[in-house]
Amino acid sequence: MQKLTVGLGERSYPIHIGTGLLAKAELLTAHLPKKRVAIVTNTTVAPLYLAKLQETLHQIGVQSVEIILPDGEVYKTAETLNLIYDGLLTHRCERSTPLIALGGGVIGDMTGFAAATYLRGVPFIQIPTTLLSQVDSSVGGKTGINHPLGKNMIGAFYQPQLVLADIATLNTLPDKELSAGLAEVIKYGLIRDLPFLEWLELNMDKLLARDTDALQYAVMRSCQNKAEVVAADERESGERALLNLGHTFGHAIESGMGYGCWLHGEGVAAGTIMAADLSQRMGWISEQDVTRIRKLFQRALLPVRAPDLGVEKYLDYMGHDKKVEGGKLRFVLLKQIGQAELVSNVPSELLQQTLEASVHD
Ligand code: NAD
Ligand code: GLY
Repeated sequence: MQKLTVGLGERSYPIHIGTGLLAKAELLTAHLPKKRVAIVTNTTVAPLYLAKLQETLHQIGVQSVEIILPDGEVYKTAETLNLIYDGLLTHRCERSTPLIALGGGVIGDMTGFAAATYLRGVPFIQIPTTLLSQVDSSVGGKTGINHPLGKNMIGAFYQPQLVLADIATLNTLPDKELSAGLAEVIKYGLIRDLPFLEWLELNMDKLLARDTDALQYAVMRSCQNKAEVVAADERESGERALLNLGHTFGHAIESGMGYGCWLHGEGVAAGTIMAADLSQRMGWISEQDVTRIRKLFQRALLPVRAPDLGVEKYLDYMGHDKKVEGGKLRFVLLKQIGQAELVSNVPSELLQQTLEASVHD
């Protein structure tokens, strides 16, 4: 088992990464001074892991209220968020009752937002069960829900008190979801960790075969990168924006195709190829670099061609991006492989070329 810390002063918290952590009561004890918690999960994850977690809690005398939501990105809405509040109020959960998010990024983001807002803030623990949530969404305190006009548009920065990433839970993950998580893993290599990118090029087959050691290393290295960025820029006034490589295009794909049609990681993969294409047009990376990036996503079994939403629709959805400043689009682009930059002065003709080339290739 490995332990990292997200260093945020008095709001610092540990991330534990290993196999079989769901059964390790000692990791939870210190964070559960009161003997009651509310577990938020969904209809897919509950039959797999809810009883196991409840058994562990039982060993340390903690009772749990369960709130089981419908599964899917399409349910990451205000209506579903209300179901969490309904459950918490019905069961008379108090300000000292921690919420535990048991599931992927959708459950983690929604539970985090419920924790930030229920009774003006209650403690919150992340137990991520997808690769994507273990390497990205459970760490760093971005919480929220979607709006029909844009992804993750309503939310709050609210840090968990603990993250438990049990690698064993990845054994039940569908292949497509494993690949989606790999998109965010590759992202860290591209934006700030070239040695990790090279490691991924050597070990992609092991990751796809769910080799435990390889997965644990990838989760640990990704969380290390994310923890460093979050500690330096919690509220995204600078460096944290770089974690959005591929996301401006990717969110447009996700929203434009209809939530749940493209997985988040799939949108990020195709969106990163678009960002790489634009970086090449800016004269920063070479055609060989773009090919190298495309190949790695293909080896992770991810889509590398964007859907043809039409240039206007892309521009429309991208106009709702959270990085828009003064009405101007900003993009995370690659100065070189392993080094990203937030750019606000992309010439519109280059953006137009990227959009046209990406959807007509
Ligand atoms: P998800 O939560 O929809 O999970 C994917 C699917 O896998 C779901 O059907 C889920 O029920 C199922 N599942 C979860 N764990 C499982 C397991 N162990 N075995 C079998 N099935 C399992 O999707 P995700 O990829 O985990 O997260 C995507 C979400 O995360 C998006 O909404 C995205 O916006 C958000 N996100 C947030 C951040 C952040 O910083 N907060 C970062 C990246 C992504
Ligand atoms: N996933 C982007 C971030 O946490 O900032």
